[in-house]
Amino acid sequence: MLSLYDLTVEQKTAPVGLDEKQPAFSWKLKSERQDVLQKSYRLTVSDETGTVWDSGEVQSEQSTFVCYAGAALKACTEYVWTVEVSDGVETARAESRFETGLLDGRAFEGYADWITHPLPAEEASSPVFTKIFCVEKEVKRARLYATALGLYEAELNGQKLDDTFFAPGWTNYKKRLQYQTYPVALTHGVNELCFTLGRGWYCGKLGFDPQPNNYGDRTALLAMLCVEYADGSTDVIGTSETWQVSTGMIRFSEIYDGETQDTTAKEQPLGMAIRYEHGFDSLIGQENEPVRCLMRLNAQQSFVTPKGELVYDFGQNLTGWTEVQISGKPGQILTLHHAESLDENGNFYTGNLSFAKATDTYTLNGEKQALRPHFTFHGFRYLWVEGLDEGQEAVFTACHLSTDLKQSGSFECSHKLINRLQQNIQWSQRDNYLDVPTDCPQRSERLGWTGDATAYSPTAAFNENILPFMKKWLRDLYSEQTPAIGMPQVVPNIMGVGQTGAAFWGDVATVLPWTLYQVYGDKRVLSDQFDSMKIWVDFITAQCGENGLWQTGFQYGDWLGLDAEVNALNEPRKGATEDYFAANACYLWSLQIVVDTAKLLGKKEDEAKYRALREKVLAAFRAEYVTATGRLVCETQTAMVLALHLGLVEEKHRARIAAMLKTNIDAHKTHLVTGFIGTPYACLALSDNGMHELAGKLLLQEQNPSWLYEVKMGATTIWERWDSILPDGSFNPANMNSLNHYAYGSIGNWLYTRLAGLELLEPGYKQFSVKPQFIRGIEWVKLRYDSVYGPIRVEWSCRNKQIRVEVEVPANTTALVTLPEKDETVELGSGVYTYEYAAETNLHLSKYSLEMPLRILMEHPIGKPMLSQYAPEMAGNRMLEYVIDQPITALLSYAPQIQPLFEAIIGAMNSAEE
Ligand code: BGC
Repeated sequence: MLSLYDLTVEQKTAPVGLDEKQPAFSWKLKSERQDVLQKSYRLTVSDETGTVWDSGEVQSEQSTFVCYAGAALKACTEYVWTVEVSDGVETARAESRFETGLLDGRAFEGYADWITHPLPAEEASSPVFTKIFCVEKEVKRARLYATALGLYEAELNGQKLDDTFFAPGWTNYKKRLQYQTYPVALTHGVNELCFTLGRGWYCGKLGFDPQPNNYGDRTALLAMLCVEYADGSTDVIGTSETWQVSTGMIRFSEIYDGETQDTTAKEQPLGMAIRYEHGFDSLIGQENEPVRCLMRLNAQQSFVTPKGELVYDFGQNLTGWTEVQISGKPGQILTLHHAESLDENGNFYTGNLSFAKATDTYTLNGEKQALRPHFTFHGFRYLWVEGLDEGQEAVFTACHLSTDLKQSGSFECSHKLINRLQQNIQWSQRDNYLDVPTDCPQRSERLGWTGDATAYSPTAAFNENILPFMKKWLRDLYSEQTPAIGMPQVVPNIMGVGQTGAAFWGDVATVLPWTLYQVYGDKRVLSDQFDSMKIWVDFITAQCGENGLWQTGFQYGDWLGLDAEVNALNEPRKGATEDYFAANACYLWSLQIVVDTAKLLGKKEDEAKYRALREKVLAAFRAEYVTATGRLVCETQTAMVLALHLGLVEEKHRARIAAMLKTNIDAHKTHLVTGFIGTPYACLALSDNGMHELAGKLLLQEQNPSWLYEVKMGATTIWERWDSILPDGSFNPANMNSLNHYAYGSIGNWLYTRLAGLELLEPGYKQFSVKPQFIRGIEWVKLRYDSVYGPIRVEWSCRNKQIRVEVEVPANTTALVTLPEKDETVELGSGVYTYEYAAETNLHLSKYSLEMPLRILMEHPIGKPMLSQYAPEMAGNRMLEYVIDQPITALLSYAPQIQPLFEAIIGAMNSAEE
């Protein structure tokens, strides 16, 4: 039977408060028949009065992002929409609903005033605004529309309105401020509406050197409750000078520093609210999903550190806060400090928090209490508690907070450490997606760093549906751009307009919309962002010299790459790749995206203009950076990776550069030394240039620097630096050393697209390819991805001389499947397909190999004795000390005749292991 499911409007299920004027509808098809493709659809939208739009029957396979095209939608109105689909064999029908928001933020005007409290602007405590009102008639429907300068939590009759946090979210408040819509259930008789405000991102401290008042210096509230009665009459209760203000129990709150609550304090009335001038022009409906508590974790253990701190370990580095349940003494003070790690001596470690205090303090009232903060969050795994009495019981729960995005991807394989790596990737994503895509959740930063998003977004889009979340952020990004700066380095931009766009960071303006379009197939992302893309590339063009290349101004370069000795600027945080090599490579990448976007949008003039420009820049790039015989003037890993991955060199030079890249990686003993710019593409470039096995070795590398080094060191999230914690357990001394940064999690993209082998061919995965690419050491992979058309599944195994591949193709899509060890590619329609056949490949990887450092053999209980027995002279040779940390293969290049002996010893070591 054909059925429809997962009906969404703007990727949200039955949204309330939608402010898109022409919202886009999507649905998914399901059938047990194979090869199902939609042939036609018919959409209708109706309100109480009847049908407001009927698309008529449309012959089309389009089942995603069909835009509303009826008469203008009315504000604050519930609509029912239906879709009827035919696949040529059967028809199916389904219905869902949505409710519009105010559609124009100025709708508050005349019904509600901005109000503030009478306290001094710099007041740290949280004001509480209250309104008591009476409901005397039967209510048909009630909606609260609310926002604040600062953060707010709302309660009706003592109950928090919903399960979301950090409203109104973080946007470029100067131009865009979201309001939220809440369906509310009023009580017949007296009702009390209550709002508590915190300083939050609006006037709280932000930045490296945290400064307050980035948008304004005082908190304020705007709300209106719209009530429709059963008799058809309506009422609006808006914020005004008739609202009461008091001090509540929150005495202090700052995002970085934490929150202080005095639960013994009685509410102090402060008088009436004061009208505040702010205007309504910047108001917009909530665009992305809200922040919620996604998980609650109990402490796994508690202990006292050598310094005497009582510490609880939640076993997982996360973003959120701690909830405490306790019966205390009246006036007892409990202080909760948060940190990501212990130091090498086992003491609570706050050295990497920069200026953030990450401390919550509660004065208890003597009753049984459950307490949590409201307007702060911490990045932590460990909790240090001060103020508990000997033997006093308390339960501490870590609440994991993140923007509540739908998980769309999962990846699992036969290698336990890789599975932990994938979990770490997903944790760091959720930990850093708190309303905006941030760099880290623990130190005094937590900003929307653009470069991190460039590096990580393709991986992110596999793991979660990031479309509404990123669309909101891209709108802020565009709103922060000017021709003079091109691109801000953080969005929302609290670093001021003095900082101009830097390569790779700024390229998020092109790369992210393009990625979103590819993954979800929503073309509006491109049309909405096209001007923003152009501002960025035009800015770069304006920086270029006569040779047509960008070779001036500030760059972050290959940030945190490990191959620099000390570069010209004495900046130890940058890799060795020449800044402007990378800058021009990224410029060419962005230009290509602008050309492709212009083409898609039918903007012929732009297409021709930017195509010609790109050709000129490419020629200049080659003249400057590629020798006539096909070497790069900058032969770092990152430079070569970019040249290959972005297709910047002539085809005839590709092989030579690939070979040089391999030489470089070999010289680093199968390690990457790439930073933010090179790392996301390194394994992709290798796999796509005939060196997939080498990519696999980098993935499975366990020595520092590598992905699995972190995992083996106990990481539960992705670290900012390859070597955030050094092999001896000490911290990389830099205070800029977060244990929860997602940029290097970008290896996820390679796991999903190359190792598992799922790649999109047409936007939204309307058509995709499945081409598993084996590596030794991984014998099976299971991947699932919930595309906008439905679930795609790729499972493969290669063990016991058998290959098995299972592929699920959702309805209304097709797949091109290339089976391992077979040459042909088959095209499949929807359905589930299983292939089993004899394998030539053996993916089993023994623990010990010729690629390991000699030291492992010499320190093994079988290794050294065997070497001493069969080659006593060699075993006793003092020169071995000089090569002890080199791979055995390196020794064999000097003395190939000893290979059989080493193979025999390693064979014996492996047998003992198995
Ligand atoms: C952030 C980064 C960011 C960088 C700029 C850091 O402090 O945490 O992830 O991209 O600055 O280079």
